[in-house]
Amino acid sequence: MNPLRPAILAAAGSSRMKDAITKVPVTAAVVRRFVAGETRAELAPVARELLKSGRSVSVDFLGEYTTDRAQADAAVAEYLSLLDALAEADQEIPGVPSVVPRVEVSLKLSALGQSLGQDGPAIAAENLHKLCAKAVERHVWVTVDAEDHTTTADTLEAVAQARAEFPWLAVALQTYLRTAEDTVRDLATDGTRIRLCKGAYQEPATVAYQRRADVDASYLRCLAVLMSGGWYPMIASHDPAMIAAALTLATENNRVPGDYEFQMLYGIRDPEQRRLVDEGHALRVYIPYGTQWYGYLMRRLAERPANLGFFLRALSER
Ligand code: FDA
Repeated sequence: MNPLRPAILAAAGSSRMKDAITKVPVTAAVVRRFVAGETRAELAPVARELLKSGRSVSVDFLGEYTTDRAQADAAVAEYLSLLDALAEADQEIPGVPSVVPRVEVSLKLSALGQSLGQDGPAIAAENLHKLCAKAVERHVWVTVDAEDHTTTADTLEAVAQARAEFPWLAVALQTYLRTAEDTVRDLATDGTRIRLCKGAYQEPATVAYQRRADVDASYLRCLAVLMSGGWYPMIASHDPAMIAAALTLATENNRVPGDYEFQMLYGIRDPEQRRLVDEGHALRVYIPYGTQWYGYLMRRLAERPANLGFFLRALSER
C-alpha cells in the first residue's frame, strides 16, 4: 500500500484540511482531472463524449455523510433531474442496441440521508426507492456505492429491500473487507448485480486486509465466484492483473462481452479504457460531478503517490 495513504485518508475527514485545500486556486486544475465539473451543464459534454466513444457511463452526484435533511432532499432532487438528463443524452447518441442501459447513476446512501441519526437508514432506503422507481421509467440503471465499513450492513440491507421491486439494482463490494468473499457468495446466489472494487477508505485491520497482496488475492477469489455464477459482474479496477484475470475467467466460463463489463474512473487510464472498447469489451466510466468533491479527490490522491506529487508540485509552483 502507498505509505502516505493513511495520512491522506485521515485528511479526507478533516474539516480544517478541507477548508485549506478547497480554497487554494490551483486545486481546481487537479480536481478537473478526476471530476467532470460542478454542475449538470458541465457534466453533459463529458458524458456525451464518452458515450460517443462507445463507453457506457455511471454518473455520481458528489456528496457524502450528509447530516442535514435539506441537503439530503436536495441530493434526491438533483438525482431525479440527472436521471431525466441522462435518459435524454442516451437517446440523442446512436449506439448499438443493448439490453444493458448505457447510462447509470451511482449513489451513496450517506448522501441520501443514511447519516441523519437513528432514522437515517430508513430515510436513505426510502430515497433509494424513489430514485429506483424513476430510473425504471427512464431505462437507467442504479448502483449503490460502498462507503466505510460502519455503513456496510445498512447499505446491503437497503439494497436487498429495494431489490424485491428493482432486481437490477446493483451494489459495490470492497474486496479489502475480510467478509468480502462470503458476501459475494451470498449476493451472487441471490442474483445481485455486483460492482467489484478493491476499496478506497481507511479501515482498521480488524475488518479489512491491510496488505496490497491480500486485497488483490481477495479480489481474485471474489472475481472467480462472480464470473462463474454471478449475474452481470462489473469489474471495477484499473489494475492490469485484475483485468487480465477477468478476461481469462470470462473465457473459462464461456462469458461473452455484454454479460459482464469493465468499469474505470473518469480521468484514470483513458488509453486502456479505449483499448478495451476497441477490442469489443463493454466498459463503463464512473463520472463524478458536483461541488462536494473534496472526499472523492482525497481518495484518488491516496490511491497513487504520483497524484499527490502532481498536486504538491502544482501548489509549490503557484
Ligand atoms: P490499484 O490501486 O492497484 O491501481 C492499479 C493501477 O491503476 C495503478 O498502478 C495506476 O496505474 C492506476 N490507478 C489506480 N488508481 C489511480 C488513481 N487514483 N490515479 C491514477 N491512476 C490510478 N471504492 C469504494 O470504496 N467504494 C466504491 O463504491 C467504489 N466505486 C468504484 C467504482 C469504479 C468504477 C472504480 C473503478 C473504482 C471504485 N472504487 C470504489 C475505488 C476502488 O475501490 C479503488 O480504490 C480504486 O479503483 C483503485 O484500485 P484499482 O483496482 O484500480 O487498483
